[in-house]
Amino acid sequence: MPKKIKKIGVMTSGGDSPGMNAAIRSVVRSCTHYRIECVGIYRGYQGMIEGDFIKLDARGVSGIINKGGTILKTARSKAFRTKAGRKKAYDQLIKAGIDAVVLIGGDGTFTGGMVFNKEFDFPFIGIPGTIDNDIFGTTFTLGYDTALNTVVEAVDKIRDTASSHSRLFFIEVMGRDAGFIALNTGIGAGAEEILIPEEDLGLKRMLRSLQRSKRSGKSSSIVIVAEGDTIGKNVFELAEYVEKNLPQYEARVSVLGHMQRGGAPSCFDRVLASRMGLKAVELILDGEKNLMVNINNNKIGVTNLEKAVKGKHKINQELIRVSDIMSI
Ligand code: F6P
Repeated sequence: MPKKIKKIGVMTSGGDSPGMNAAIRSVVRSCTHYRIECVGIYRGYQGMIEGDFIKLDARGVSGIINKGGTILKTARSKAFRTKAGRKKAYDQLIKAGIDAVVLIGGDGTFTGGMVFNKEFDFPFIGIPGTIDNDIFGTTFTLGYDTALNTVVEAVDKIRDTASSHSRLFFIEVMGRDAGFIALNTGIGAGAEEILIPEEDLGLKRMLRSLQRSKRSGKSSSIVIVAEGDTIGKNVFELAEYVEKNLPQYEARVSVLGHMQRGGAPSCFDRVLASRMGLKAVELILDGEKNLMVNINNNKIGVTNLEKAVKGKHKINQELIRVSDIMSI
């Protein structure tokens, strides 16, 4: 017989992403619906260790569905990586009477949750929140759709100046280990080349492709480079290499950086957050633990937390083919 749940904690951890606030709101309001208490944990695992908690109610999360960032703040806690840190966190949860926690974050957050669960048998339910979309078991993570729109808007603007000056632009987008943002924004913004960690295009092939672009009459070009791509040492050296080998090109570099993580969440991310928050609370009330809420084929479901952490979310090969043909 599972323990009766009276109080649920919610926290955001790791890199923030647009839609985290909408997910917090959803968890809080779902708790209100089921007449259970909800507690916000500040700064992820760090706040858990320090007992930095706040009681949240339905009105307390008004006006945040449209806000980027996270009202609960976030952190990457070093102390939680130690057993002593995790024991402190456990003691704080027990002291506050928290029966289960909804973790909103990426694979680092989920890995911490799994270790903690093994040690203390404490129920966690994950909601995938990262702009990188690199979590196994779910087609979309919170914040990814918003980040795609942010990047496409920025690339459109860069294209204006690229074409005025007939320049070649290398635009670096986020994605430490994954090319989801690069591949989709590359297609959406009409890039000539897309460099992602999952596919090794090779420097020679890239040069050939840029030569072809010039010959076919293109005056300006955009190359989208995922942060984690390894074709060049970094995007600046890549641009230098191309200018050296293809002197007909004048190259510039633009690193979009952390602006990709900010801004009001898209409607898609707000709806996704609302659906996932409710599901997370209902799973806890059903006595579930160690699961991540997911979305596949527009259906909300679950993936085992361990599988979500260990599995690899593969990029869609069809998109690579589309991008190749579109950049003709
Ligand atoms: O949240 C994921 C991510 O945005 C990666 O794409 C990026 O490499 C990383 O976070 C940057 O992290 P930080 O904010 O710690 O520099």
